[in-house]
Amino acid sequence: MNAPDQYGVVGHPISHSWSPFIHGLFAKQTDQSLVYRLYDIVPENFRAQVLEFFTRGGRGLNVTVPHKEAAAELANDLTTRADRAGAVNTLVLNDDHSLLGDNTDGYGLVTDLTKNLGLNITNQRLLILGAGGATRGIVEPLLSLGPTEIVIANRTPERAVNLASLFSDLGAVRGCGFDQVGDDPFDLIINATAAGLSGSVPNIAAEVVASHSVCYDMSYSKTATPFVTWAVEQGCARAHKGWGMLVEQAAESFTLWRGVRPDTGPVLAVLGIK
Ligand code: ATR
Repeated sequence: MNAPDQYGVVGHPISHSWSPFIHGLFAKQTDQSLVYRLYDIVPENFRAQVLEFFTRGGRGLNVTVPHKEAAAELANDLTTRADRAGAVNTLVLNDDHSLLGDNTDGYGLVTDLTKNLGLNITNQRLLILGAGGATRGIVEPLLSLGPTEIVIANRTPERAVNLASLFSDLGAVRGCGFDQVGDDPFDLIINATAAGLSGSVPNIAAEVVASHSVCYDMSYSKTATPFVTWAVEQGCARAHKGWGMLVEQAAESFTLWRGVRPDTGPVLAVLGIK
């Protein structure tokens, strides 16, 4: 019998990741022979260790904090959506041994928001907190749904301004610091910062949350995340953790790697989301 194909997720930190569990369920459901492991790699070693993984026979990797932009640099080719994002969360080894970089984050988020949670994005005002690799992947797919406006706010304002300018041809999007988002509440507020990893919440005014606002944390945890706790305290309509996005982006990566699309419903059910 052939050894199972090797996959994994690269990040730092990574021990909190549920991706091995999710891909394990997908593999079982679709009868695919593969293993999926965690790789904790510091930024200085990212390039060398990822290349080593593939030269040793690895077939595909997911990429998470803080390596998504480095992965876009590393890939030989990028899909249109990864190129636009300048960030990669999925690396695929092609038959000719070149590396393809894709970004399934936007697909995962939009599928969770619209299909699983039944939210409407069209003509809504959106606030995205953070301007790193996680944000890069979601701006284009969100703009394609026709929101009135997307404001990207970041601790380091220049990063948000620069990022917004990359997407300004696609719709109304502006970047600013946390103290420059204005006083009007938003319909949907998405936390795409890594603040939760250190137990903190982006330093944003309470006024951005109204009683109709939906808050979404792209981070996930079995307990409430700091952002979800904060959002509920501000009196939002509802607050969601990023479990659904995690499962949906994983399904898209799995489809890219294996050519078969897993059903996310049973996995969401196991995780207690559906
Ligand atoms: P990723 O690829 O996951 O987006 P990243 O590129 O390192 O990772 O970006 C992390 C994001 O979280 C950035 O927007 C970062 O803000 P800065 O650009 O100012 O560094 C944000 N971030 C991290 N820790 C934060 C904190 N404690 N409060 C607010 N924002 C934070």
